[in-house]
Amino acid sequence: MKTIKKIGKWMGYAFVSILLIGLALYGYIYWNIEKRLHKVYPTAILPVAIPTDSASIARGSHLFVVHGCKDCHGTDLKGRYMANETLLGTVAAQNLTKGKGGLPADYSDQDWLRVLKHGVTREGKTLIIMPANETTKLADTDLAAIIAYCKSRPPQDNELEKKPTLGPVLKTFIAFNKLELLPAEHIDHELIPITEQKAEVSAEYGAYLTTNCAACHRDNFQGGPPLAPGAPQVPNITSTGRVGKWTEAEFMQTLRTGVTPDGHQIDSTKMPWPRTREFSEVELKAVREFLLSLPANQAIGLR
Ligand code: HEC
Ligand code: HEC
Repeated sequence: MKTIKKIGKWMGYAFVSILLIGLALYGYIYWNIEKRLHKVYPTAILPVAIPTDSASIARGSHLFVVHGCKDCHGTDLKGRYMANETLLGTVAAQNLTKGKGGLPADYSDQDWLRVLKHGVTREGKTLIIMPANETTKLADTDLAAIIAYCKSRPPQDNELEKKPTLGPVLKTFIAFNKLELLPAEHIDHELIPITEQKAEVSAEYGAYLTTNCAACHRDNFQGGPPLAPGAPQVPNITSTGRVGKWTEAEFMQTLRTGVTPDGHQIDSTKMPWPRTREFSEVELKAVREFLLSLPANQAIGLR
């Protein structure tokens, strides 16, 4: 009798302890996320002239694809949900046109620059998922062309939730720094802008074009374990990987068709080759030049 009572008592203690640990964990995650989402970042936005000529708009249209904007905001810029469910939360890649559900009528060039250079809202708080930690590294002339293109697009009606909310899964990953989804935290807000980036076949231009490849291929481009359960291993794309053995023609062919020299079809949902397919000849050659300069030339990618 006595031992049963004792066991019952210990089970009670264990239950209460687990409950308390759970509550403390929830409290920590809640406090951590609230603090980070409400932090106000100081942003002094230097004016950049946004062109309106057709050549700049055409270049902007190309860069909109090359720098991945289209993958999230869509071809017609009307936006889509990146997540919209209880566990992950609701985050929309916004409708970037002036149609219903789009940008406010008074959305200014300053507002565009604040997002792309600092990753923050008009209130100075971090955006979510929008990869401004990458767009902040773009040269002013390229950003200006992208903005010029976006502003020239016809209005599209698509009403998405404007205010993002994070569900428990994303909150937990962010609180424990397992996912970097708050771009303003990863931006040097004092960065001196690059005014222009020469589009030429050079490792430097290749490094500039590959900022968003690192999200999967890792900062050293040597790849690593799959990013999600069931996804393929992310390959090493430096000179020490298969890429190092491919000829220039084979490299271009792979990034244009999604088929590697040994006949492997790359899944476009795991590796964005429909985007690299749109890269120009100069851009692809520059990317190859940069990748082949690695790992010896690691510093070039760091800015
Ligand atoms: C990985 C997906 C992704 C990519 C790539 C991406 N965006 Fe976004 N973008 C988002 C999300 C998500 C939001 C909404 C963020 C929020 O509400 O906190 C957003 C918000 C924005 C906003 C702010 C709209 C507003 O309501 O103020 C602008 C402007 C924008 N993106 C432009 C761009 C441009 C230009 C590019 C390419 C250089 C780009 N985005 C690339 C996901 C993306
Ligand atoms: C969303 C994650 C992701 C992004 C972003 C990404 N890749 Fe990949 N990449 C992969 C995965 C995963 C594979 C392997 C696919 C497979 O085995 O089917 C791959 C394969 C490759 C390969 C083939 C390598 C080999 O040895 O077979 C090359 C080359 C490549 N990527 C280059 C790039 C470049 C350049 C960029 C940026 C413009 C980029 N990737 C962006 C995930 C990504």
